[in-house]
Amino acid sequence: MGKRDLITIADLSDQEIVGLFDLADTMLARDRTGLELKICAGKIMATLFYEPSTRTRLSFESAMQRLGGSVISSPDMKSSSAAKGESIADTARVVSSYADIMVIRHYWDGAVQAMAEYADIPVINAGDGSHEHPTQTLCDLYTLRKEKGQLKGLTVVICGDLKHGRTIHSLVYALARFGVHVITLAANGMELPQYVIEKLESEHHYSLVPVASDDLQAVVTETDAIYLTPSQPHQLALFTQVDADVQNRLSRMLSGIKFDAFYVTRKQKERMKGENTGGNGSYPKIGERFLKEKRFKDTVVMHPLPRVDELSREVDKDRRGIYFKQAAYGVPVRMALLKFLFDALGSEKTRTTQKRATLYESPEPIGSQCLNGNCVTRTENASTRPRFEVLFTGPGGGLILRCLYCDHQHKVQFIGHTNSRRYCPYDITLAETVREWLKNRELAIFDSIKQAEELAYEPYKSGPQRTIMDEAEIREAIRQMSEQILEEREDPDRLLILGIRTKGVFLAKRIAEEIERRQNRKIEVGEIEIYGSGDDLRRLSPSEDPEPLPLNLKDRAVILVDDVIHTGMTVKSALSIIFKAGRPKSVRLAVLVDRGHREVPVKPNFVGKHIPSSERERVRVKLREVEQDERDKVVIYSIISPDFSNQRSALSP
Ligand code: NCD
Repeated sequence: MGKRDLITIADLSDQEIVGLFDLADTMLARDRTGLELKICAGKIMATLFYEPSTRTRLSFESAMQRLGGSVISSPDMKSSSAAKGESIADTARVVSSYADIMVIRHYWDGAVQAMAEYADIPVINAGDGSHEHPTQTLCDLYTLRKEKGQLKGLTVVICGDLKHGRTIHSLVYALARFGVHVITLAANGMELPQYVIEKLESEHHYSLVPVASDDLQAVVTETDAIYLTPSQPHQLALFTQVDADVQNRLSRMLSGIKFDAFYVTRKQKERMKGENTGGNGSYPKIGERFLKEKRFKDTVVMHPLPRVDELSREVDKDRRGIYFKQAAYGVPVRMALLKFLFDALGSEKTRTTQKRATLYESPEPIGSQCLNGNCVTRTENASTRPRFEVLFTGPGGGLILRCLYCDHQHKVQFIGHTNSRRYCPYDITLAETVREWLKNRELAIFDSIKQAEELAYEPYKSGPQRTIMDEAEIREAIRQMSEQILEEREDPDRLLILGIRTKGVFLAKRIAEEIERRQNRKIEVGEIEIYGSGDDLRRLSPSEDPEPLPLNLKDRAVILVDDVIHTGMTVKSALSIIFKAGRPKSVRLAVLVDRGHREVPVKPNFVGKHIPSSERERVRVKLREVEQDERDKVVIYSIISPDFSNQRSALSP
C-alpha cells in the first residue's frame, strides 16, 4: 500500500501546500459552524513524543478528534520501552499495527525519517532534533498568507537561534520556494548552518549577501544581517563578491525595503551540547523599541512558541503580535494535513521523498559516515545505515555527500573500486569515473586511508616496495617501548594498554605481554574502534569474565597504541572517544612507526622507528596476526599518481 509521509517540507509540492491551505480554510469555516466532520471516523492516530511539546501534540490530537478520529498518545517516550533500550525501528514497527497514522517528535536529527522507513502507516515529523519541523512551517506560512494576502515578494526577517532551530530550517526552504525575501538576523554563533545555506543556493537558487544593517538596530545592536534573495530574475545574483560598492547599494536597497514580518525564535539551549549557551553579544529581541519604530508599523511578529525572553509581553497586546493566532491555526492546518495524508493512501499519486538525484549507500561494511554527531545514523546505527545524496558540485570541484537523514554535508576524501579493491584520493578529474562506478554499484567511499586499509584496499598503482623494518627489528622496537613504559614507574593496576583497531590492537597485546613477562602480573588490554558500528571501547584481557565489565577509564594511565602515525587525525578521534567515556589520569601514545606530516599537534611518547617519508609514499605495517603466511615487516612504497588525463585507462580495474 502506498503511503505518504511528511518528514521534510520538501515532501510537499508548492501546489499541495496551497491545496492544504484551501482545505484548512474549509476546516476553519466548518469548525466555526459547529458542523461535525467525520472524515477520520474509525481511524486512530498515535502520537509519540520523545521531547516535550504543548502546541504541536495537542493541536494534532485536537485536529484528529475534530475529524471524528481517536488518539493514542505517548507524550513522554521516556516512560515507554525506549527507556529500556528499544530501538526506534522496533517502536515504529509495533506502533504501526496499533494506529493508522503516527506523529513523532524526536531529539535526533533524522530519527523520524528512520522510523518512517519501518512503519507501514503514514508518519508525520513533529520535529526531529535540529533538523526540520515541517508542520510548524505549514502553520507559519498559512498565518503569514492570511495576514498579508499572499507570500510572493514579502520580506521576512528570521531571528534568534538559526543554527539549532528546526522551525527555522523548514521555514526558510518554504519561504524560498514561495518567492519570499529572507533576512537572517542570528544571535552570535547561532547563524544559519552552512548546509542549509548551500541547499538554499543549490535547490532554490537563492543567493546570500551579508549586509551590515543599521535599519535593524531596534532589534539588535551591532549585527550583520544576511540577505537571502531569489537569484532570478533579481539582479543581486550578479554580485558574487561583497565589495564596498555592493554593500552600499544593498544598504540603500535594504533601507527601502518593507519588512513584512519578524519571525522570532528562542535560544535552543537543550541542543547546545558542549557549546557556550551564553553566546557572544546580544540576542535579537522584540520589545518596546521595535513597537515604537515607525518603519515597523506594518510588520507582524511571529513566533513558534514557547518564548523565553526574546519576545516581550508588551507585544501581546499589539495588533502586530500574531503568534497566538499562529498557534491557533495549528488545528485547522493539521486537520487539513490529516485528511490529505489519509486521502493519499493507496493513491497512484503517492510521492516518494523529493527527487533525490544520485543516491549512495556503501557497498562495504565500513565507509563514509555523516559528520553530524546528532544524526540518527550515528546515534542509532542498529536502525539505519548511512545513506547519502551525491553532489558533484562542491567548492573547487569537490565531491560532496549529503546525508539523507539530516542533510549535513561532507567532502569525499577517498574513493575505491569494489572489484579491483583499489583506492585513491578523490579529485575532480575522477568525476566521470565516479559516476560510472556509482551507477554500477562499484563505488566505495572512505573518510580515511585507514578505512580503506581496514578492508584491505590497496592504493592505485604503487611503485616497488622496500622493507624498512624486519621481524627482528619490530620485536626489538616492541621490547624497547615496553621498557620505556615501565621506566615511567606507573602503578600496574592503573595501566591500561588500549590498541586502536585493527593493527594497534595486536601491537597493544604484544606490549602487554612484554610488560607482563617482566612484572609477572596481568595487565589490562582494551580495544578502541574509531569507525565503530557498536561499542567504541572494549576490554580484551584479562578476559576470564564471559561478560566483561565495560572499561573503566577513570584515573587510568592509558597507553594508546597504533601501528603508524601520520596526520594524527585517528589519534584525535581516539582521544575524543576516550574523554567521552571517562577521565583518565593520563593518555600516552605508542606507535611502531612515526612517518610525520601531522595535521594536528599530536606527538607520540613512545616510537618504534621514525621514518621520514614523502606525502606520496605509503608505509604499511604487516603483522603475522593479520597477514597470513607473512612475517612481521614494515614496508614503504610510492604511489605513482595515476594518469588522470585518460581516466578510464588509468583507473581501469
Ligand atoms: C518549536 C519546536 O519544538 O521546535 N515549538 C513548536 O513546535 N511550536 C520551537 C521551540 O521549541 O522553540
